[in-house]
Amino acid sequence: MNILVTGGAGFIGSHTVVALANAGFNPIIVDDFSNSEPTVLAGLKNILGYEVPCHIFDCNNYPGMLQILRDEKISGVIHFAAFKAVGESMQEPLAYYRNNLGSLLTLLDAMLAEGISNFIFSSSCTVYGEPDTSPVTEKAPVKPATSVYGQTKQMGEEILRNVAAAKPLKIVALRYFNPIGAHPSALIGELPRGVPSNLVPFVTQAAAGLRDALTIFGDDYPTSDGTCVRDYIHVMDLAEAHVAALRHSIKIVESNFFDTFNLGSGKGNTVLELVRTFEKISGHPLPYHIGARRKGDVIAVWADVQKSYDLLGWHTKRSLEEALEDAWRWQQRLGDR
Ligand code: UFG
Repeated sequence: MNILVTGGAGFIGSHTVVALANAGFNPIIVDDFSNSEPTVLAGLKNILGYEVPCHIFDCNNYPGMLQILRDEKISGVIHFAAFKAVGESMQEPLAYYRNNLGSLLTLLDAMLAEGISNFIFSSSCTVYGEPDTSPVTEKAPVKPATSVYGQTKQMGEEILRNVAAAKPLKIVALRYFNPIGAHPSALIGELPRGVPSNLVPFVTQAAAGLRDALTIFGDDYPTSDGTCVRDYIHVMDLAEAHVAALRHSIKIVESNFFDTFNLGSGKGNTVLELVRTFEKISGHPLPYHIGARRKGDVIAVWADVQKSYDLLGWHTKRSLEEALEDAWRWQQRLGDR
């Protein structure tokens, strides 16, 4: 089956291309390289042994999308293409609404025109805000988003729920917790632009001497060591969950289907625990200091993954150590670029 992967040159997208190909699907990428690099395609070729087809354009381009769905005989779509920087989304709300929601509407229109029903959407645990309890299940209330980025994910889910109720679509929305790591070959990985705002890319860059000390944003939270708790998941585990979600959608017979699934490891780790684990695998102390809390940070959130296990038959296979080892190997391969 030919599967369209929008944003397939991005961090999670490129790893999902590998997982799809490993599972016997034919991934076809659409990416405008606005937040990714064409070099990813060479990495994918090295891993898979063949060139993955890639169409370079914006998913807001309706005629272009229609043409690809038709020409490439697409059976399902995994939609990653979106802007994802929380801070930037507050400076450029229109760009975020236009890109993240506009491309979603365009794609759905094109899929309906072509009679394609299987659709996998990248959502986020940001929909839970600060949950009342963790592990958080999919039944937990969706809290008002604190960023435009978060809003586009919540609105995206709402749009999909409503469209699926009215149109012949089978939609799976995947709520990612904190994806980290890289392909173990170190041929693909995360390519943050500028100073990374996410923890692990900052840690690996600081360990490589490219950044000054890590600032840990607050150590006075009500957690075991005072630092925030997150659910870190290896990007290859996350990638494999997309294959499981796609298979689930293909198996569903009802034509108006929408459901949400948590994708996490099911474990919470504090920032300090992650730093200590990284120090262990890299064999060096990591320079860090404690700074002020970062505005908007959730105190603690980790996933209940029972539903994903029961219905998708998926669970994580890789540990935090493996994820950090792979992230570190990738950073070392990148050198100082
Ligand atoms: N952190 C630091 N120092 C840093 C960077 C991060 O201490 O330099 C801490 C944060 O305070 C947080 C933890 O590390 O406690 C993880 O932070 P990240 O920025 O890596 O991840 P977030 O959980 O804040 O954000 C992630 C995604 C967002 C998404 C959000 C949903 O990156 O896209 O989860 O909760 F919106």
